[in-house]
Amino acid sequence: MKRLTVPRIRQQKGKEPLVMLTAYTVRMAQLMDPHCDMLLVGDSLGQVIYGLPHTVAVTMEMMAAHGAAVVRGSYHAAVIVDMPFGSYEASPEQAFVNASRLLKETGAAAVKLEGGKVLAPTVEFLTSRGIPVMAHVGLTPQAVNILGGYGVRGKSPEEAKSIVDDAIAMSDAGAFAMVIEGVLEHIAIEITQKVACPTIGIGASAQCDGQVLVAEDMLGLFDRVPKFVKKFGEMGVGVEEAVRAYAAGVRDRSFPGPDQLYQPV
Ligand code: KIV
Ligand code: NA
Repeated sequence: MKRLTVPRIRQQKGKEPLVMLTAYTVRMAQLMDPHCDMLLVGDSLGQVIYGLPHTVAVTMEMMAAHGAAVVRGSYHAAVIVDMPFGSYEASPEQAFVNASRLLKETGAAAVKLEGGKVLAPTVEFLTSRGIPVMAHVGLTPQAVNILGGYGVRGKSPEEAKSIVDDAIAMSDAGAFAMVIEGVLEHIAIEITQKVACPTIGIGASAQCDGQVLVAEDMLGLFDRVPKFVKKFGEMGVGVEEAVRAYAAGVRDRSFPGPDQLYQPV
């Protein structure tokens, strides 16, 4: 199976919705790959994999290691790697050095970065030098220290307008797609109608050109989830039951049993 390419993702605007999920590890990538158009190695791995309070402390090394694992575990989906906080904001040159490193070390197709108008020159710089960029507007979790939390964005008309302007700036700068996170629905609809690239919603609107969720959230593997998460599975319960049965088997010596043991022939 040939991998979906960035140009083909771009062409999906207004057609069949694009399916994206986060993936951080090889086995999860293998399981999700046949069903997804894109796998996002999100910096949400900070919370999900590393137990960090937010994404600010996520490093290039983490993104490179998990990005490479996800590429190794997938054959069909395009893999996109988040640029961690501090790796791209200082200048277009800084962004190019780190984005190119992520693509080289992982084999991913593209990077994603958070931000709007201010980062449009960076998106243009990267795109014109061979690095496809997915933008991320609305609720941008790396800005938690400025925003003071993860509340829905765009409640005032001024903020709504600035989010739409950010999205247009990112699209005009050459972003091949964009995540719209945590905004009032009408903002996501307006952006989807106004920008040239596909929009991928999370807490946004079913009218976006695609959707994304953090896989562990929708699988029931992460306890505290926002309103916009729908649990499509209860894997946490499955893990708990299996571990409980294993512990009982060890304690009553029913495990290992004859099938799991070696004897002389
Ligand atoms: O890091 C992440 O998982 C993300 C998605 C929620 C879009 O950026
Ligand atoms: Na992210």
